[in-house]
Amino acid sequence: MAQNSATEVARETTQQAFSLEIYGENVGVIFIDVPNEKVNTLKAEFAEQFLAILQQAQSTSGLKGLVITSGKKDNFIAGADISMIAGCENKAQASELSKAGHVLFDKIDNYPLPIIAAIHGACLGGGLELALACHARVCSNDNKTKLGLPEVQLGLLPGSGGTQRLPRLIGIPHALDLMLTGRQLKAKQALKLGLVDDVVPESILLDVAVKMVKKGGVQRPAIHWQQRLLSSKLLRNKVFDSAKQKALSKTKGHYPAPEKIIHVVKTGMNKGLQAGYAEEAKAFGELVMTPESAALRNLFFAVTALKNETGAQATPLKINQVGVLGGGLMGGGIAYVTAFQGKLPVRIKDISDKGVTQALRYSWDLLTQRVIKRRLLARERAAVMARVSGTLSYQGLENANVIIEAVFEDLALKQKMVAEVEKMSKQQAIFASNTSSLPIHQIAQNATHPEKVIGLHYFSPVDKMPLVEVIPHQHTDETTIATVVALAKRQGKTAIVVGDDAGFYVNRILAPFLCEAARCLVEGESIEHIDRALVEFGFPVGPFNLLDEVGIDVGTKILPILVERFGERFKAPDLLDKVVKDDRKGKKNGKGFYEYGHHTNKLWFWKKANKRQVDKTIYSLIGVVPNNTLTKADIAQRCVMMMLNEAARCLDENIIKSARDGDVGAVFGIGFPPFFGGPFRYMDSLGIAKTVETLNNLAVKYGDKFEPCELLCNMAENNQTFFSANAEDEVNATKLSNEQ
Ligand code: NAI
Repeated sequence: MAQNSATEVARETTQQAFSLEIYGENVGVIFIDVPNEKVNTLKAEFAEQFLAILQQAQSTSGLKGLVITSGKKDNFIAGADISMIAGCENKAQASELSKAGHVLFDKIDNYPLPIIAAIHGACLGGGLELALACHARVCSNDNKTKLGLPEVQLGLLPGSGGTQRLPRLIGIPHALDLMLTGRQLKAKQALKLGLVDDVVPESILLDVAVKMVKKGGVQRPAIHWQQRLLSSKLLRNKVFDSAKQKALSKTKGHYPAPEKIIHVVKTGMNKGLQAGYAEEAKAFGELVMTPESAALRNLFFAVTALKNETGAQATPLKINQVGVLGGGLMGGGIAYVTAFQGKLPVRIKDISDKGVTQALRYSWDLLTQRVIKRRLLARERAAVMARVSGTLSYQGLENANVIIEAVFEDLALKQKMVAEVEKMSKQQAIFASNTSSLPIHQIAQNATHPEKVIGLHYFSPVDKMPLVEVIPHQHTDETTIATVVALAKRQGKTAIVVGDDAGFYVNRILAPFLCEAARCLVEGESIEHIDRALVEFGFPVGPFNLLDEVGIDVGTKILPILVERFGERFKAPDLLDKVVKDDRKGKKNGKGFYEYGHHTNKLWFWKKANKRQVDKTIYSLIGVVPNNTLTKADIAQRCVMMMLNEAARCLDENIIKSARDGDVGAVFGIGFPPFFGGPFRYMDSLGIAKTVETLNNLAVKYGDKFEPCELLCNMAENNQTFFSANAEDEVNATKLSNEQ
């Protein structure tokens, strides 16, 4: 940091978040360095300190202006501290937080001398709002530098003037895009949009900002034509209307924040800055108190907590190289996230050239998409590809200390793989199986080192799905668990440690949901009607669309295993058998519940899925004449209630360690509606007694499989909830049945 500048240091040594240094006699630099924290987040109590620093600078004679920068390595300000929000009891209190932000950032905006933000690292949420209040911004060209307003992802809006300053700086369309998606920009993208005024190497960041101050700020280029056009109110309103329509088609009315963002920006642009601020504070207060925002914030806390957990009482091994057995759909994806996100060397072993080539191609294709979108340089792609290699033997895998197995779903084959790995490995490698249905203890049955065998269950497509289930069996040791959890995190995944029983957690709660959808179909509800019912409930795709996506053969393979272990409630109607026998595998062979034409690309995107046409020939195949007698709400209730009841059983049986893990698993593994926070938060919001009552009613109508499980009945009787109302406890909510 500008060590080469002539510096007269007057840095305070108190435990303050802000300190002032004077550079080259006449430029003040405010360093933000929140004590005892890894990253800077803004807290309400900082306002006073910050105002005092501004005052101190103002009374320093001869100052030409100020630079605001971070005292932390690689982090500017990650956002406002959202635990402040949890303390708000009503809309008015939450609005006050926003208003306090307005007052503070207005002080920067109206400061009599130029203030420049010098940004390196994450500059997000409240951090970017602070930077927006400065008179100009310069940022480093480092990959760690990211700018964005992610509040919408927590069901909120930027509450410290961001909704007003951003459109005035970069124009309404770009500002809406950033606020409605919450996406983060790299330095060059930010420069292109005019969000920052200069991008420089980190080594000269502070010097450049100091020079900007000395020059008296920056000269902005003439206003962009798009902004000029929008000086017409009519045109502006058209932009707002189309943004609203687009937002509604995405949210389906489940998330209130996007509409509020559009409304607040519109107010500010049509009625002026002060009206905009007032509306921003009001809307912020309202959003804070919505159940949707509370659910999204709880999920955020849960994922953050999981990131800090090691999964076991042991230190993870340092991973030197990862081996992947099987270069199919899953193996290819696992190799990619290991080499790209994990930055680890990975060697794929398959029995056929095709398998190896296919896996290498998987990484190449995904990296090339990034190169085309300019999110990666060609040389960076080459560097990642240099970490991936393939073989038909075990050559080059002898020293890998983690081997991930993703061969065909066949117990004898997987046991054989364990034996082969134990024989060839010089490191006594960890053997992590990606099985979707086979019990891990059976895979480890003949192992010489069963303590090294573990389940590591990814979801398809591996590069997109954020969850993995880590499944220790009875004899897996703690180091193995910790190492695999650490590896999953390195691959960019959220890991939950789950119990070794049929279906583990995610597939176990998904199966009864899918079976119930199939029962609705047998009873005469159409495929579109059922899928639409669950999409309207909030799932990204309906159950039949999902089956087509994952492969009907894959999706149904697990059912007999679940029936054998847990009984009739997992029994699917015969129609699924008929569908599989008709060689309908879904999207992968272009034949399923829906029509595919020629689009059978394995690397699919959810967004296309909801637009397909049902393959009507399926009705005669399964002997159903659709007549839609149930409402969509009825269908959704039947399918979802089966899932909720099973999730509660999983908690009771220790398959998941906590309701929190169960929520994270369902949202990130299946797409359970995030605005409900997950199945357990959802049951809490319905009321456990009400959940039990609904299940009992369904049991009368549709049979025993709906009977509420013991845990739910006990909880209803004792008036309990899964989570405490106290925000502090929410994150640590542990298994209730232990406490009973
Ligand atoms: P896949 O059929 O696409 O690939 C399996 C690969 O294993 C093939 O390339 C095959 O040549 C290779 N292979 C077979 N025997 C081998 C051996 N002895 N040594 C090395 N390679 C060998 O299968 P997919 O879909 O990738 O599944 C793999 C595993 O992942 C299975 O256990 C499956 O249950 C599990 N899984 C699958 C999911 C999915 O959605 N497809 C989701 C989660 C888990």
